[in-house]
This record gives sequence, C-alpha cells and structure tokens, in this order.
Amino acid sequence: MKLNSDAMRRARANILPRVLMVSIAAWSGAAFSGAKDIATATVAPAFTWVVIGDEGRATARAITTAASCPALNIDGRIRSMKIRAEPGTVPLRTTRSEPVDSKPSAFPVLACELALPRHAQRVAIGQEVLPRPSRNPRRIVVMGDTGCRLKKADNAFQACNDSQAYPFAAIARMAAAWKPDLVVHVGDYHYRENACPTGMPGCAGSSWGYGYDAWRDDFFVPATPLLKAAAWVMTRGNHESCERAGQGWWRFLDPRPLIAGRDCNDPAFDSVGDYSDAYGVPLGDDAQLIVWDSSNTALRPLKPEDMAYKRFLQSYSQIEDIARRARHNVAANHHPVLGFAGNRKDRSQPLPGNRGIQSAFGARSARYFPAQVELLLSGHTHIWEQVSFKTEHPSQFISGISGTLEDTEPLPDRVPEGVTPASGAIVESMSSWVGQYGFMTMERTGIDQWRVQVMDQAGQVVKNCRTRGRRSDCR
Ligand SMILES: [Fe+2]
Repeated sequence: MKLNSDAMRRARANILPRVLMVSIAAWSGAAFSGAKDIATATVAPAFTWVVIGDEGRATARAITTAASCPALNIDGRIRSMKIRAEPGTVPLRTTRSEPVDSKPSAFPVLACELALPRHAQRVAIGQEVLPRPSRNPRRIVVMGDTGCRLKKADNAFQACNDSQAYPFAAIARMAAAWKPDLVVHVGDYHYRENACPTGMPGCAGSSWGYGYDAWRDDFFVPATPLLKAAAWVMTRGNHESCERAGQGWWRFLDPRPLIAGRDCNDPAFDSVGDYSDAYGVPLGDDAQLIVWDSSNTALRPLKPEDMAYKRFLQSYSQIEDIARRARHNVAANHHPVLGFAGNRKDRSQPLPGNRGIQSAFGARSARYFPAQVELLLSGHTHIWEQVSFKTEHPSQFISGISGTLEDTEPLPDRVPEGVTPASGAIVESMSSWVGQYGFMTMERTGIDQWRVQVMDQAGQVVKNCRTRGRRSDCR
C-alpha cells in the first residue's frame, strides 16, 4: 500500500505539530515524571536489537532514556544512530473503541535506528555486540502472542508477576539458548491494556495502557535475551492495530521508516496506519519469507466495498509479485488463514481460518495464496497447530504459545470428513498442542524442506514435523 499523498499532506499539517507540542512539553518536564532521566546523556541504551525488513535489509534499533542516540561501531567505523521517534505523549484517541478505560500514551524515550551495511561483520554499541543478520538462515525460532493479558472487557487478568503463569521471559531465554539465526515473531506483542484490579496480587503493580512502560514490561524486558541472540522479523498482530498498541508498533518495531500519518497517533489517518505493504526477506538458496500485515481484519467475510477488503486485495498482489523472486516461499502474518481454532461447543467441529482474509484472498485464488507460497506461519490462536492439505493449498503452522494466556478449547485428533478451515481446502493431516507454553523452531534441511519442532517450557521436544514443499507431517 502506497501512502496516499493527500492523506500524507493532511497528516503532516495536523499531526506533526500536535505530537511535537507534546514532545516539547515532555522535554521541559511537564508531561511525565520520566523527563529528568532524558537529560542524562551518558546512559547506555535500555534495549537494542536488529530488525529485518524489505529485501532482507537490516536496521539496528535502540531505545534510550539519554538525550541523544548512541553511536554504533560498524567494523571499526563510528556512526551515530538517527532519531526514529522523539519522546512525547500521544493524547488519548477519542474514537478508541477498546478498551474503554485507557489513558494517553507516554513515550519518555528516544527510539533510534541506523540501516546497517549489507556486508557489516561486527556491529557494537559500546561493549555490546549486536546480532549479525544471517543471509542464509538455517535455524529459525517462530513465536507469537507473547504479552501478559490484562483486559477488562474480557475480565482476563493474567498473573504477570508469576513466571509460571506468564512464562515469556523463560521461553525467550530458552529460545536464545537454541541459537537461532533468525527470530520470526508472528504478532501480538502487547497485551497490558487495562489496570490490574485491586486485590489481584498476580498482576498487582503491572504497567498498563499503550505507552512505553507497558511495551517495556510486556515485550522488551522479557524478550531481551532473544533480541541479543539473533535478528528479528516482526509481524504485526491485531494487538498492534491503531485502535490498540499501534503507536508503539510504529515507534519501535515496524521495519519501515516512521512517517507522520501512519503512526496511529490520530484516528483520522487509521486508513493509512492500519495497513502496510508486504515485503520479502531472502532466506538463501531460492527460499524467501514474505511478511504481510493482517492486523486489521475481521472474523466475518468482508464486503468488496470495505477498506480492509481492498487492502487485502493489494496485499495479495504484493505477495504474488514478491513470491516470483524465489521458488520456495514461506508467508508470515498474524491471523491463520488455513488453520483451525478450537470449538468449545463441539470439539469435532473446529472453527475455520480468518473469514475476512479468506473473502479477499479467495477472490483472487481458490488456493488463497500464489502457487509459490508453500508454508504459512501465523499466531493469534494461542495454541500450536499444523495443517496439511490434499489440495494445492499451503501448509499452515500456528505458533501462538509463547506467553499470553493459552486457549484451551481442544482440537480433534483427526478432522472429520468435510471439515475444513477454508472452503475448497481438503485436509490431509493435522496436529495440535493445546493449553501449554513453548515455542516453535524451523531448521532448513533441503531446498524445499524444513524440520519443524515444538519445544515445551522445559526445553523438551513435544512435536516433530517434516515439511517438503507445501506438504507437512507431524508426530
Ligand atoms: Fe491476535
């Protein structure tokens, strides 16, 4: 999706001064109590990481409470990181529909970045060496749905203070110890939306809302070992839509430049901020990862006049174009298109994949994806799952098991005849692991082959799969 020039002009005219004004207030100490820290120039960055974007381009990122961005040492040359986002507080969005009990989003930190040269060997900030992106990753961690759920509307308050009840930190440590070449997060990083009610010690004192403190505690602190271990591909979840944590998504995680108007600061420009272009990440040896944004979809089929429908048609065309660059493609997004969700009312009749995306992608192809797309990686459903098809559809993997309150509706061991996640797709095999925490790994074993495993919280392998082309089989 290319940014509409009129929208951009209006955005620059209307949004930038508003946020800048709050930023200046923040710098003067008026908007938040953390302003004093910002004046400390010699503070080491709070967090550093490397994010991979279009065509595999790597960008170093940092969050700092210092007054300026840190310097990078790139193979002995010192380069200053550029400011991606100034400190500031974004006023409460007036049309925020969920949750109702929110507050302005305070970001009392600098977000910094610098594009890395393709052939950089060693990149460091002070003594800390950043992970070196692999151009031929063989070992990939896949995880999603990692935040601690604090949501009033669902009366769901996970015990963020209990490492058993909220195990993302331990899982990130374990995934780092597996020594991946690349991490793919399939979306939903931020879950601390509402205040922990009084009388609940499990979440007492938790940060909440859409500002930096909730992002820090929900993602950056627990993810730190894994951010240090490898470069990341960041897929966007529905929790990072403009209505929810989209402001932090654009400030910190999205690999593209931060541009006024697609920063989710003003609801008037959500039609820009809620959608983004697909991009390809080469995996070497004629394989590629295609990342696309489904954060703003719907459970129901979309109508052709719906904005999301039109955007998903664009996404399909982009995926189609990108897929031509490699013979073997793995597509990563948040919402499973060809996976099941458990059905509490009838275990034998699991619920289908995302109808909103199916309605648009299905209008372009009965396969729902271009022919070169062989595997799908998603999250959203808080389970692990694999589905392979007798028909030409790609295999679907779901890895939403790395921290957020698990879904417990069971899936059948075998899918009854005629039950399908998407019209026209005939299931050949499926496997699932429900109600427990862990993460998924992929090891490339051949030109179109992967070994996929699922590790539990103790680091034990609980699922073993082989993929070849679009087919997959798990034990
Ligand atoms: Fe989700």
